Amino acid sequence: MKLRLVAAAALLLLPTCAAPYKPGLGELMTFQQLRHDKLWLAGSAGNWALAAYEADELQEGFDDVVGYWPTHPDLPLPPAELVPRLVAAPLREVRAAVEARDTHAFETAFDKLTAGCNSCHQATNHGFNLVRRPQPGWFGNQDFAPPR
Ligand code: HEC
Repeated sequence: MKLRLVAAAALLLLPTCAAPYKPGLGELMTFQQLRHDKLWLAGSAGNWALAAYEADELQEGFDDVVGYWPTHPDLPLPPAELVPRLVAAPLREVRAAVEARDTHAFETAFDKLTAGCNSCHQATNHGFNLVRRPQPGWFGNQDFAPPR
């Protein structure tokens, strides 16, 4: 009887003992894609509050990339080195442009950020994931054409 109680208690506790959820890098990136897309749409529409929100979310997403995957077994270079090197500065520039409500500066900074995304994809052998200024249609900020 006592043993059965112990077994039942152990079963009840099982879910709390499970390994904590760790998002995959591809999952984190899919969120980054959505935020990158929305950032552009918000900035282009002059909705600076929403653009500021999406820029913050992008920053948090990159913090998660570095936090969960400072290094990654499938990548030749560590995200902890690449994120600060390739996207930190352009993202700061985006935030400054959004704060200044400066459409021209926003567009320039957004393109630099996008170039940073693509540089990292190149550096990690994922150059086939090519992002761009959003265009109409589903996943409009991704170029699906084969590499040229
Ligand atoms: C640390 C370097 C790095 C940076 C910076 C980076 N990416 Fe990625 N990205 C990757 C890697 C590596 C993958 C493949 C991840 C995997 O599937 O394991 C990826 C995958 C993707 C994918 C494909 C996701 C899918 O599953 O279909 C998209 C879209 C993407 N990134 C968009 C972006 C955007 C937009 C930015 C910039 C705002 C960005 N990435 C910045 C390294 C990076």
